[in-house]
Amino acid sequence: MKSYYQSIDQKFILYHGDSVECLKEIGTKCDMIFADPPYFLSRGYSSRINGEWKQFEKGEWDRTRSIKDINTFNYKWLSLCRNILKEDGTIWVSGTYHNIFSVATCLVTLGFKVLNIIVWHKTDAKPTLSKNYFNFTTEYLVWARKNEKIPHYFNCDLMQQINGGSRMGDVWNIPFVSSWEMKLGKHPTQKPLRLLYRIILSSTRKGETIIDPFSGSGTTGIAANLLGRKFIGIDQSNEFLNYSIKRKKEIEDANNAEIIRKKMSENPLELMVIVNHARKDLRLQMIDKGICYLRAGDSNGSVLITPGFERLQYVLLHTNGNDCQLFKLRTKGKFQIWNKESLEKCGFQPQNASYYIVLHFDGTKPVTIKHKPNLLQGLNTYRVKLKPLSDFIGIK
Ligand SMILES: C[S@@+](CC[C@H](N)C(=O)[O-])C[C@H]1O[C@@H](n2cnc3c(N)ncnc32)[C@H](O)[C@@H]1O
Repeated sequence: MKSYYQSIDQKFILYHGDSVECLKEIGTKCDMIFADPPYFLSRGYSSRINGEWKQFEKGEWDRTRSIKDINTFNYKWLSLCRNILKEDGTIWVSGTYHNIFSVATCLVTLGFKVLNIIVWHKTDAKPTLSKNYFNFTTEYLVWARKNEKIPHYFNCDLMQQINGGSRMGDVWNIPFVSSWEMKLGKHPTQKPLRLLYRIILSSTRKGETIIDPFSGSGTTGIAANLLGRKFIGIDQSNEFLNYSIKRKKEIEDANNAEIIRKKMSENPLELMVIVNHARKDLRLQMIDKGICYLRAGDSNGSVLITPGFERLQYVLLHTNGNDCQLFKLRTKGKFQIWNKESLEKCGFQPQNASYYIVLHFDGTKPVTIKHKPNLLQGLNTYRVKLKPLSDFIGIK
C-alpha cells in the first residue's frame, strides 16, 4: 500500500483511506494503538435548546447510526487492530456513552483484557446547553491488552512522579485542547497533546511504534515523535492529513519541538513548590519545628498572590543553593499570618517585619529530589519563588 506521506526521518507515516481497508494492508506490527474513532454524535440537523436552535455537526464521518451499525463498525476495525498489535501490545480507545460501551463489548468479545477505564475530566469544559441534565465534562478511555495471559508494559513509577509522588488514579484532570495547539489549522474533535503525552509515556517505551487508525489532525503522531516513538496514522480526509503534515513539519525545527514538548508536559493543575532560601541555622530550626516563614508584604509584591499559590503543596528549603530539602505541606494552598511575637514564642528571632506568612510541614519526612535546578539562577537568590513540582521530582 502506498503511503500518503512519509517524513524525512521515516518516523511519521500517513495512509489515506478507509481504516478498515488500510488496516488490512499495513504490514507493520505495532506496540500500541491509540484510536479516537467516530463517536457518532452528529445529527446533521438543528435542535431547539432553551429557545435557541443549535447545530451539532462534526462531519459526515460522525453521523449518528443505529446501535447495530455502530457495533458492526467497531467490531470490524477492532478485529483488524488485533491483527496488527504485537502479542504484548495494548490498545487505547476514546469515547463517550454513544460509542464506548460498544467498544468495550467488542474488545472483550475479541479476546482483549480490559485494564482500565480512564475518566478524562475536561477541567475547562463549557456548560452543557440543555438544562435537562447535568453538565457533560468527561470522556472515557478504554485501555486493554491483547492477551489475557501475556503481560503488558506500564510505567507506574513515571506516572507516580507525574502525579506528584502518589499513585496515579483513573480520573485524569486535563484541560481541553489549547489555542497553541491549533495555530496551524483546526479539526472539530482534536485531542489535547497533554492527554496523548500521558497515554504514550504510561504504555510505551522509546523507539516503539504507535498506530492511530483515525488520526485526524495527527495529535497522536506529534506526541509520539516528540517522545521518541514512531507513528503510523490513517485518515480518510485529505484536509485532516494535510493539517497533520503541517504539524509534523513544525516540529522538524528543533526549537519548535522543544517549545511544544515543554508545553505538552506542563500540567496547568500541577502542584507547586515554594522555594525558600534561609541561612543554615535558621533552615535547620525551620525543619526542626516544621515551620517555614516568610515576610508578609514584600515591597516587590507577595508570592501569595502569584497564580498557582492555590496549588502550593511543597516547600523546598536551601542555603545559597545548597543542602536542598523538599517537604510536603500539611495542607495544600493554606497558610497562616503570624505576628513577630508568635514566632518568637516558637524560638525564632525574626528581624525584619511585624507580620509573617507561616507554612506548616512535617520536617521528619523529606521527599526525594530527582533533579535539582540551579537555585542561584535569577537576579535575587533570596526572593521566594514558586516552582512546579516537576522541576524537582517530575520527568525531564
Ligand atoms: C475523532 S476524529 C480523530 C481526531 C484526532 N484524535 C485528533 O486529535 O485530531 C476521527 C477521525 O477519523 C476519521 N475517520 C472517520 N471514519 C473513518 C474511516 N472509516 N476511515 C478512516 N478515517 C476515518 C475522520 O476523518 C476524523 O478525522
